[in-house]
Amino acid sequence: MKDRFQRDIDYLRISVTDRCNLRCFYCMPEDGIDKKEHDDILRDEEIISAVKAAVKLGLKKIRITGGEPLVRKGIYTLIKNISTIDGVEEVVLTTNGLLLKGNVKRLKDAGVKRVNMSLDTLNETTYKNITRSTHAIDYHAIITELIEENMQPIKLNAVLLKGINDHEIPDFIKLADRYNLHVRFIELMPIGQLDYNYKQHFISKDDVLLKYPELQFEKKYRIAEYYTMPSHKGKIGFINPISHHFCDQCNRLRLTADGNLKPCLHTNEEINIRQLDSIELYNTFKQAIHQKSSRHSLHKNTKPIDRSMNKIGG
Ligand code: GTP
Ligand code: 5AD
Ligand code: SF4
Repeated sequence: MKDRFQRDIDYLRISVTDRCNLRCFYCMPEDGIDKKEHDDILRDEEIISAVKAAVKLGLKKIRITGGEPLVRKGIYTLIKNISTIDGVEEVVLTTNGLLLKGNVKRLKDAGVKRVNMSLDTLNETTYKNITRSTHAIDYHAIITELIEENMQPIKLNAVLLKGINDHEIPDFIKLADRYNLHVRFIELMPIGQLDYNYKQHFISKDDVLLKYPELQFEKKYRIAEYYTMPSHKGKIGFINPISHHFCDQCNRLRLTADGNLKPCLHTNEEINIRQLDSIELYNTFKQAIHQKSSRHSLHKNTKPIDRSMNKIGG
């Protein structure tokens, strides 16, 4: 369905849990999350009914997000049930990757076409510091498994954090070349409680390009701008919601794990979908698409939205 600004809204991002096995400092509060009770989280049947209403309005790409989606009990069955709904053309996943190892084939069998993996650093100590966890991630093994299962293109998302991981940009570029990946650098967005110094850690795409002039612009595709390098196999993307917003390309709607539709990532505006029958669900999705604003207002220095990112799913 087209919204008021003639954008075709065909993409639904479903956060299936607000829980996560990591605690990235820019994503959730230090003391963890105010864990939702089991009953506060949409049940499988509610998610399925929501997707059935959404496809009737032309939303045909479904992205499963979190928190960390793979920590949800029964996630493989849920994905399978979503991917077999008439009208769903593609089910994709955004994950931190920790639970991917050994499970890629299972995901593929459940119907997942592609995986976007969030990985902000290739360094073990920095990983522990950013994620405030004791985990280590074997990203070589995971990427290899994704390649073996032919889950192409494999996209790796890294939020750029000045003074923390910006010196690793060349390492990410090498990794993209080695495995033919799309590595996408994301500008840090002021979302949630901000119990860190946002301005101190923000870096814009232009700052990066000034430092790495060998990156050559290739094309814009949806929310990312892609760059290449001479005799380099991978692609380097930038997602710049702050410095060059892409809202005119926006094709998405979000459903939070506690059952709220968000017309835009950056507003507190939400529409609850719990307890609705199929006709009401259809009308509510329609209303959410109609309510989408033309662009976010982050540039106006407005107050960050209340929900932390783990409760939205990116
Ligand atoms: P593709 O299907 O591969 O194009 O994925 P995608 O880029 O839509 O999804 P992904 O989950 O990989 O998104 C990467 C990151 O981009 C998210 O984690 C967010 O940080 C950011 N992002 C995604 N959608 C939006 C959006 O609508 N607005 C803003 N401001 N940022 C977004
Ligand atoms: N700014 C930009 N990206 C963020 N993510 C989480 N919080 C932020 C933020 N404040 C990203 C994660 C992951 C995805 C789920 O959302 O790094 O790629
Ligand atoms: Fe978990 Fe992703 Fe948030 Fe990190 S950014 S805490 S991996 S949801």
